[in-house]
Amino acid sequence: MKLTFHGHAAWEVETGGARVWIDPFLSGNPLADVSADEVNADYVILSHAHADHLGDTEAIAARTGAVVIAMNELANHLASRGLRTEVLQIGGGQSFSFGRVKLVPAYHSSSVDGLYMGKEAGILLRDIEGTVIYHAGDTGLFSDMALIGRAGLDAALLPIGDKFTMGPEDALAAVELLKPRLAMPMHYDTFDPIKQDARAWKVAVEARTGVPVLVLKPGESCIVAAGGGTA
Ligand code: NI
Ligand code: MN
Repeated sequence: MKLTFHGHAAWEVETGGARVWIDPFLSGNPLADVSADEVNADYVILSHAHADHLGDTEAIAARTGAVVIAMNELANHLASRGLRTEVLQIGGGQSFSFGRVKLVPAYHSSSVDGLYMGKEAGILLRDIEGTVIYHAGDTGLFSDMALIGRAGLDAALLPIGDKFTMGPEDALAAVELLKPRLAMPMHYDTFDPIKQDARAWKVAVEARTGVPVLVLKPGESCIVAAGGGTA
């Protein structure tokens, strides 16, 4: 599985011949390394409906025909705007050409222009080779992350920005609960209120948990291999 970071909470997953985007916030994202009209996508998975996650989903999906995978209310909202969608709910999963997607709890909110868009979620993705990644979405720390970790996470993508999500201290505690084989920070430095020192977080997490941390700059990629987990 090839993972590319595009700034904020936007990631591109290439696996099984598919291009899967998560939370494609590119227009208005000062860290984005690509523009929405350059994106090729077969699927878009959304953690929640806030503008810094829903982002360019509508334009990308309308142009590429990508299927948008999201919580019930958000998926129905996008379907009413003409997009191809697939509904999931917390705790439920579904298999697609590239692997299986399951939505898991997050503690945050989810709305478009003040309209309720269903529950916010985290995303578990298990590709056809068995590689498991967890994109936490926007969330505070919660102890049931230990349950999510039971899937056997090859990589955990965690917000560290503070203010709207976990800050560095709670994100370190999340690593302790999730026990991933690799942790990667996201949702920081995009805007002044969420400026963080990702290098310092890496040093702290590695010292206190033993879990390696990879800090990707926007546009950088890594290969994540299966360690035998299931999601
Ligand atoms: Ni949010
Ligand atoms: Mn956010």
